Amino acid sequence: MLTVPDCSNAHVLVVGDVMLDRYWFGDVSRISPEAPVPVVHVQRTEERPGGAANVARNIVSLGGKATLLSVVGDDEAGRSLATLLAKEKVVTLFHKDARFPTTVKLRVIGRQQQLLRIDFETPPSREVLEDKLGDFESLVDGVDAVILSDYGKGALTHVADMIATARRHNKRILVDPKGDDYSRYRGATLLTPNRGEFREIAGRWNSEAELAAKAEKLRTELDIEALLVTRSEEGMTLFTAAGATHEPTRAREVFDVSGAGDTVIATLGLMLAAGASMTDAMHIANLAAGMVVAKLGTATVSREELLAEIG
Ligand SMILES: Nc1ncnc2c1ncn2[C@@H]1O[C@H](COP(=O)(O)OP(=O)(O)OP(=O)(O)O)[C@@H](O)[C@H]1O
Ligand SMILES: [Mg+2]
Repeated sequence: MLTVPDCSNAHVLVVGDVMLDRYWFGDVSRISPEAPVPVVHVQRTEERPGGAANVARNIVSLGGKATLLSVVGDDEAGRSLATLLAKEKVVTLFHKDARFPTTVKLRVIGRQQQLLRIDFETPPSREVLEDKLGDFESLVDGVDAVILSDYGKGALTHVADMIATARRHNKRILVDPKGDDYSRYRGATLLTPNRGEFREIAGRWNSEAELAAKAEKLRTELDIEALLVTRSEEGMTLFTAAGATHEPTRAREVFDVSGAGDTVIATLGLMLAAGASMTDAMHIANLAAGMVVAKLGTATVSREELLAEIG
């Protein structure tokens, strides 16, 4: 029988790339006289915290405490992100870099269809990132676990130092990885690549045995306790020294898979912080992911919903 631990005193520090997901919805009734493109008359806008910010809001929604350390620009999007997160009771510690715009992904939607996505992003400066590292050191002692959410936008330039610091303080470190150099994550407790990310780093596999061998190789090479490969509609597989544990997806319907990976690492981190075992944390994370894909938008799952699902 799966039980969800009391999470009310579990505190997770989330560090990584934050972004603002912005949506402009409008009507399309004509083609522009300037170029052969539709003209969208904007009727409604929506904003949601994305990336590491979405991980943090997932933790709070599940009943835990989250502190979010990141870098934003000194701009309207950065302030908007801070306001949205404050409403959701995420504690934010944002370093402002005036020479860098807050990462924004703007989608223009007309007639229920995405017409265009516009990305604003530039890597933050070295100095601001170094200040952030100092804050990491002072925050880490007060939390029960650390999540590093890497979206490859620069906020985790010092990831190896952060892992070393967290280890010195005996804190568990979960990483949602990005890119082709995982040696940066050496010594973390748990890595959560998705199927495509793992394939990129370890190559293709033709059987479960081959996947397990690749996972074991990476796990020992990088000195990590566990590797969780999330496999979209195939569910997820946890690899530890004890072997592989697979769980098929619990999703009954699928509307929107974006953000499922954020829900997975948020749930895992919070459950470990609250004292759950690695396998229980994985079962709960798989349950939460299966629920979140049935919701529209970058959604979250509440503790009540989770308990109702377990029954
Ligand atoms: N199409 C799907 N059908 C059923 N379950 C799904 C589907 N997509 C995701 N899930 C659930 O969500 C979990 C995480 O999804 P996935 O492996 O796609 O991560 P991801 O690629 O990091 O997600 P994202 O980057 O979009 O947030 C899966 O392990 C599974 O439990
Ligand atoms: Mg992901």
